[in-house]
Amino acid sequence: MTSLLSVRNLSVFYGAKSQAVEKVSFEVDTGAVVALLGANGAGKSSIMKAVSGLVPGRGEVHFDGEPIQTLSTRERVRRGIVYVPEGREVVGDLSVRENLVLGGYQIPAATRRSRIDMVLDLFPEIANKADGAAWRLSGGEQQMLAIGRGLMAGPRLLLLDEPSLGLAPLLVRRVFERLEAIRKETRLAIVLVEQNLRVTMRLSDEIHFLRGGRIVGRRRAEELKEEAARQEVIDAYLGAGAAAE
Ligand SMILES: Nc1ncnc2c1ncn2[C@@H]1O[C@H](COP(=O)(O)OP(=O)(O)OP(=O)(O)O)[C@@H](O)[C@H]1O
Ligand SMILES: [Mg+2]
Repeated sequence: MTSLLSVRNLSVFYGAKSQAVEKVSFEVDTGAVVALLGANGAGKSSIMKAVSGLVPGRGEVHFDGEPIQTLSTRERVRRGIVYVPEGREVVGDLSVRENLVLGGYQIPAATRRSRIDMVLDLFPEIANKADGAAWRLSGGEQQMLAIGRGLMAGPRLLLLDEPSLGLAPLLVRRVFERLEAIRKETRLAIVLVEQNLRVTMRLSDEIHFLRGGRIVGRRRAEELKEEAARQEVIDAYLGAGAAAE
């Protein structure tokens, strides 16, 4: 069986000399959550942007068995690849509901209405604030809105770039609890970019460790159940800075 997403020898360059990603390969099956873990500058966002078509990449990217490297971002969204960038980027002056409408501008109005209901159902934290301005939401709620906006397009593959960024531990936990609910309730595949092993491993099936634009290690989440095994990969692949909760 072919994977939903297959990335083979993906390289990303910014200009002639600056290589951000070097021959990265990984696969994502339907319904699977695959994490890319690494420190600042490791190349995580560059991989996500290359898969979503926002930056050019070399190598092969297949979605549903078809090459997508030459497709525009818009066409990739149409096929079901949706990128939720780091930093949330909700439109503060618009209401929560209007932000969701933006995420589903390309779908028929009736579908859009039912998707908004589905998203608000999934994120009760923002449901009772749906008609208030998005800037009033807490950081964690804004992250839920950003994810919800991504879900509006009806993705088959969600590329989630550091959903925990800048959030207090309690809010990180809440966002990840919602993601676990999405996992249980849908067949959505997720590529999750993170720096924190502990929050990532609960949600993920497989974790790829990135350093300097390369994948330097891989583990199945079940291999990391023991504290000693986690400490080993932190020491080997992430460095001391990543150990902090
Ligand atoms: N638009 C750009 N132009 C030039 N260089 C870039 C650009 N975007 C990223 N880079 C460089 O590419 C490398 C990888 O960056 P990338 O944003 O992919 O890392 P990251 O793993 O997502 O980091 P972070 O955790 O800080 O978000 C870095 O050295 C970065 O400086
Ligand atoms: Mg990044």
